[in-house]
Amino acid sequence: MRIVLIGGGAREHALAWKLRQSSLCDDLICLGGNAGIEQLAECHPMRSDDLDGIARFCQQAKPDLVVPGPELPLVLGLVDKLSAMGFPTFGPSAAGAMLEGSKGFVKDLCAAQGIPTAGFHRVNDADEAKALVKKIGAPIVLKADGLAAGKGVIISHSLDEALDAVDELMANHAELVIEEFMTGPELSFFALADAKGAVPLTSARDYKRAFDGDQGLNTGGMGAYSPVAQATARLEGEVMDRIIEPTLAGLRKQGVTFRGMMFAGLMLTEQGVKLIEYNVRFGDPECQVLMPRLQDDLVELMLGSIHDQLHHRTPKWSDQAALGVVVSDRHYPSGSSDSAEIRGLAELASEADTMIFHAATKRNADGVVVNTGGRVLTAVGLGRTVPEIRGALLPKLTQHLGDNPQLRWRGDIGYHEG
Ligand SMILES: Nc1ncnc2c1ncn2[C@@H]1O[C@H](COP(=O)(O)OP(=O)(O)O)[C@@H](O)[C@H]1O
Ligand SMILES: [Mg+2]
Repeated sequence: MRIVLIGGGAREHALAWKLRQSSLCDDLICLGGNAGIEQLAECHPMRSDDLDGIARFCQQAKPDLVVPGPELPLVLGLVDKLSAMGFPTFGPSAAGAMLEGSKGFVKDLCAAQGIPTAGFHRVNDADEAKALVKKIGAPIVLKADGLAAGKGVIISHSLDEALDAVDELMANHAELVIEEFMTGPELSFFALADAKGAVPLTSARDYKRAFDGDQGLNTGGMGAYSPVAQATARLEGEVMDRIIEPTLAGLRKQGVTFRGMMFAGLMLTEQGVKLIEYNVRFGDPECQVLMPRLQDDLVELMLGSIHDQLHHRTPKWSDQAALGVVVSDRHYPSGSSDSAEIRGLAELASEADTMIFHAATKRNADGVVVNTGGRVLTAVGLGRTVPEIRGALLPKLTQHLGDNPQLRWRGDIGYHEG
């Protein structure tokens, strides 16, 4: 069959690599792409929010499966549009994508379904927000309601900061969610849904800050690993029963059928596991550590979700752990360097138990791979334990990529596992 993948990050490179392994995949096309995806798929330039452009392309290419990588096309209704044209598309409808697209929507659904989450208020007026902030006091969490590309959450440790945060967020967003501040370790849990229910996948943990020790600015993600030791079978069962299933039931009550990825951001608080947020697609960098561990046919799983044929099959995962280190521009997330050759890529890729997924890369006119933006690639190591993988991967990164002054990476990804 012919598969069209949408996007151009390391997440999509990992998806392309896994889709290619399926015996069902005859032909892979990527709308977007990068120097790595180019080796696996025919690439065409396309913005992932250009729904009309994507639809026109599909009309010509007649894909048997469309796989959107990022959230924006899902929230904008790409699945509704392509499904209506007869092209099977993986992921939720626009109504289902509200799980990611509106934090307020999810909080109301949690309240209606008794799903454990931080206490909250939804507000659309700055004065009302400030009055509530004064009443609740710091620390306090303020969130923009719509998609904000990781820039819509402000955690304030003083009342003054919180009052400023109200103005800052209200300048660009019509609605806020004010949340109780929770503490505890965070992890992510993934499930795959069709119209009949959800099957559990596995766990991961990501690292958002730019520098070691979780210092510096927030980024799209500087690394991740899977599985997380704290995600025991017992915890996973609890998350399915108390969070994932009641979410689907709540959506059903509103007439919404959810199909696709349920990516739950969780916090292990003293009162038990609580939902922080949902995403409705694979994470980046989480996807880069999930795909190498998946021991099932990704195309079959995606078609199962689209055609309501998951039949409670539980996808199998390797016992091995995977650890991904994002290699970024040295100025990321504040800017990026000029394009320059990325030296040592082939040598790094040929190391045992090591994979490279490209992000902001391209081949220049001479066929040389150069950096083109903030997150340049994810290097993934596989092995028995997270500390073992980190111990093996970091020296390889220094040895092969150390010669590229435009690049940097964190050295402590996975520190939660020792
Ligand atoms: N209620 C809360 N209490 C404490 N920390 C929170 C709370 N909500 C969010 N956070 C922190 O802020 C981060 C971002 O919030 P999240 O809801 O995941 O938004 P997004 O990923 O869309 O930026 C979380 O990963 C968590 O570290
Ligand atoms: Mg988050």
